Amino acid sequence: MTKRKRILSGMRATGRLHLGNYTGALENWVKLQNDGGYENYHLVADYHVLTTDIENSFNIRDNTIEMVRDWLSAGVDPEHSPMFRQSRVKEHTELHLLFSMLVTTARLQRNPTLKEQVRDLREKLSKSALADDIEDTEAVLMSYGHLGYPVLQAADILLYMGEVVPVGEDQLPHIEITREIARRFNRIFGDVFPEPEGVITKFPRMPGPDGRRMSKSLGNTILLGDTEEETAKKIMSAVTDPQKVRKNDPGRPEICNVYYYHTKFNEAETEEIAADCRSGALGCVACKKNCAAKLNEHLRPLREKRNSLSDDDVLDVLADGETRARSTAGETMAQVRNAMKFG
Ligand code: TRP
Repeated sequence: MTKRKRILSGMRATGRLHLGNYTGALENWVKLQNDGGYENYHLVADYHVLTTDIENSFNIRDNTIEMVRDWLSAGVDPEHSPMFRQSRVKEHTELHLLFSMLVTTARLQRNPTLKEQVRDLREKLSKSALADDIEDTEAVLMSYGHLGYPVLQAADILLYMGEVVPVGEDQLPHIEITREIARRFNRIFGDVFPEPEGVITKFPRMPGPDGRRMSKSLGNTILLGDTEEETAKKIMSAVTDPQKVRKNDPGRPEICNVYYYHTKFNEAETEEIAADCRSGALGCVACKKNCAAKLNEHLRPLREKRNSLSDDDVLDVLADGETRARSTAGETMAQVRNAMKFG
């Protein structure tokens, strides 16, 4: 039997997940897990929250529970796939420190995700009352730890010898830095780490009902844990083709958000819907009702599972995952210390 490939992926502890998180990564974790060829590890990046959101970090515990509840509801299986908090496995900080010596600050400054985050933070800060209280706004905009975001992520992945990293497409630049760090380590100290590969899905960019990228900060999310009524209301308010004003006007499915949802959650009917939209036979209201029904149908089992899981259930899963994660992480650090001749 060939050795199963190791998957390591994670998400920042930001609370309840939305459709974009689901179709961009979570659903793929479950698929790969069930495919049998992989050994999955899933991490709650709670330290990473501090890089851009330290003033809101008092929510980390609740946000962790809500997020892992969504993981479990979507089918991540705790027997098969350990789930754990970064902050509960000390080796993350240790490997992060060592890796921080293997990458230049110039390389980290070129990280496109960082530039985008700093831009968002600057905007947020300019609108917030906090701005007056903060003497050194630049320090808030980019701390030393924030610059090192991808270094910590490299430690997350390589601590578990992750070879496959299913993530949202915005994470690919971080995986590239991980590969560079692995390569550099191996060149200096001998072959220890794999060069992990990022894997994205067919639906990496789920639009919100308003047509912008679905994102918590834009307030345009459809949550996995929403009720059926909430979901339907959001779909009914979605932006469609602006040229389709009256029910029987011909529409352009290729620019319609609702059609995009159909392609994902109602695959069987997409061709028919596209044709009827174009010909004007199908109006937006009927099309949206159908979409909401299909989406709710898809999410129903997940939501039932979600409602059955208590906070303690989730915390038990994490405690067990953390024991298993520590054991793997400890083995890696032994190899690292050995390769680096710490003795
Ligand atoms: N940066 C990732 C995100 O924002 C979260 C993350 C942290 C991660 N460590 C990771 C993802 C390791 C994959 C592998 O979603």
